[in-house]
Amino acid sequence: MNYKNEHQQSTEHPEQFWLSQAEQIAWYTKPIIPFCNNDNGYVSWFPDGTLNTCYLALDQHVESGKGDQCALIYDSPVTQTKQKFTYAELLSHVGRFAGVLKAQGVEKGDRVIIYMPMIPQAVIAMLAVARLGAVHSVVFGGFAANELAVRIDDAKPKLIVTASCGIEGQRVIEYKPMVDGAIALASHKPTGCIVYQRPQVAASLNPEFDIDWVSAMEKSEPADCVPVKSTDPLYILYTSGTTGKPKGVVRDNGGHAVALNYSMSAVYNVDEGDTFWAASDVGWVVGHSYIVYGPLLKGATTVLYEGKPVGTPDAGAFWRVVEEYKVKVLFAAPTAFRAVRKEDPNATFIKDYDLSSLETIFMAGERLDPPTYHWTREVTNKPIVDHWWQTETGWPICANPVGVETLPTKPGSSSVPTPGFNVQVLSESGEQKPANTQGAIAIKLPLPPGCLASIWGDHERFVQGYLSEFPGYYCTGDNGYIDDEGYVFIMGRTDDVINVAGHRLSTGEMEEVLASHTAVAECSVIGVNDKLKGQIPVGLVLLKNGVEIEEQLLEQELIAQVREKIGPVASFKRAIVVERLPKTRSGKILRKLLRQIAADEPLAVPSTIDDPSSVDEIVALMKQRGMVQQVTV
Ligand code: COA
Ligand code: AMP
Repeated sequence: MNYKNEHQQSTEHPEQFWLSQAEQIAWYTKPIIPFCNNDNGYVSWFPDGTLNTCYLALDQHVESGKGDQCALIYDSPVTQTKQKFTYAELLSHVGRFAGVLKAQGVEKGDRVIIYMPMIPQAVIAMLAVARLGAVHSVVFGGFAANELAVRIDDAKPKLIVTASCGIEGQRVIEYKPMVDGAIALASHKPTGCIVYQRPQVAASLNPEFDIDWVSAMEKSEPADCVPVKSTDPLYILYTSGTTGKPKGVVRDNGGHAVALNYSMSAVYNVDEGDTFWAASDVGWVVGHSYIVYGPLLKGATTVLYEGKPVGTPDAGAFWRVVEEYKVKVLFAAPTAFRAVRKEDPNATFIKDYDLSSLETIFMAGERLDPPTYHWTREVTNKPIVDHWWQTETGWPICANPVGVETLPTKPGSSSVPTPGFNVQVLSESGEQKPANTQGAIAIKLPLPPGCLASIWGDHERFVQGYLSEFPGYYCTGDNGYIDDEGYVFIMGRTDDVINVAGHRLSTGEMEEVLASHTAVAECSVIGVNDKLKGQIPVGLVLLKNGVEIEEQLLEQELIAQVREKIGPVASFKRAIVVERLPKTRSGKILRKLLRQIAADEPLAVPSTIDDPSSVDEIVALMKQRGMVQQVTV
């Protein structure tokens, strides 16, 4: 089948298309109903199906005689460790850890927060939670205690699973004090914390509350898979929205398994036995879908890499891993390749490695800028696919679906809508825009399987945030255009979400932190262009009347506050004191205008502005500091 037919089938006859994809996975009860409207008035996929995602990821492969095949490769240049797990070995660890969780009272539907570095125990914990039909919520290690506390209060976990430390390049970062701090801050109190002690740091354990991973595993009785409904939640993954409160994206079991299984073949052309490497983190959606679930559902081998693209030890790291494990597909964020290019512009390292196993390089997380596309293409001589997706969708909305048909590439475009996604560009009033005209990108409902089922504990926020703006559509929050050959170009966000080194962050959340400083009257955080990280946040702050504080000192204090409240991952390093913020006459900050300044674009100053000279001041200050160059008023 070619791409055009496949896409047409998927959007014109989604029931048939997805029921036939559902045939590809091993259900306990095979679904007959493709989808229905649930109590929330939203679509549920395969409502009559039952399954267990951990069974699909592990047990089924062992039962079909593939127990000796490699499931997981752990490669950690920061600890000089390499370890392989066959499907049978991984299943044994997961079964036993599920037993540990069960002994602690974890049951179907309970939540378990996992705050761990990139070690096999993180994957084992995720799969063990899924095995019990419970719901995991993995929190990225770069988030501070306060962020973890917010997630504890929202997800209300029975248990927390953590490790004694994470390792960032040369630095050892203690995790346990962060977890203890978060539990102290949170109103909800979990009943215990399971700690994996790493040799680099021994966390001090409270015998009343903490449980040592290794000793608990020694005593554990393995637990079996608990069947769940297709529509039962598998995980909650928090992502940044426009407000300070992160959104808990809820993923179901059945739709997720069917969609990921399909995507492994259709998008990535990966089959059982192939090696797939997503150089991301288990704390992000890419890690959930393509370090853990996708490759394992397919019976492939996945690589868990605890290191950076550069500095661990050098800019040859990606190429070394590809050669060593015969990686067929490499998936990373463009920022990672920009980091490699910065260190090794002539790609001297690549010559030392055999990349013959590598079929395709996929990039996502942010727009793949054409210079990075061309550089990577040139130095690797491999097809490069930019594909676009979101935490909410869980798998690519647009891609060059090389498993269906390899289409010509257009640098700057994330290719065409993936089968299952009916992508449209809409005007503010919801009219479909003609080809080559920019607008809001929306997806016609129903969304395919695998996309978010709701926002945890706040279905209204889901409806308001995604479904209300354009009735009948899911609003992506991205804008862009579709050209006359159907290629989609994502140009940026329409809201206050920014993308820093492939990490999605809320400027609203940073604003809340800045505003809590005693000297700050008002503020706005914008994402300015950055050569390495794509965007970096900059705070524009207005001092309270009569407050005198040296700008540099204030900047240092604000940086420290953001690190403490949100975490180092925010990469908040710059703040400017301004006299005014551009506002409408009714006093609303002109955020779109600020976004245009930050993007270094020509400005369209609206007539509703109260004081146009506020714009001149900000532009001049930002130019002085080299944050923007071209923007003109
Ligand atoms: N635990 C604790 N701290 C963490 C962390 C973790 N898991 N991950 C990142 N941090 C810290 C970093 O140490 C850094 O701290 P610093 O300000 O004290 O130096 C800060 O958070 C910012 O991290 P990062 O944005 O990763 O910057 P970096 O300079 O360390 O590395 C890149 C730059 C480009 C190499 C790196 O960002 C990268 O590989 N990005 C790819 C992102 C990705 O995979 N995204 C997923 C979507 S596909
Ligand atoms: P996240 O939820 O962290 O995956 O971030 C999703 C957001 O990142 C999207 O809404 C886009 O703004 C951006 N993004 C992800 N992939 C791409 C891509 N290939 N091209 C352009 N933007 C992207």
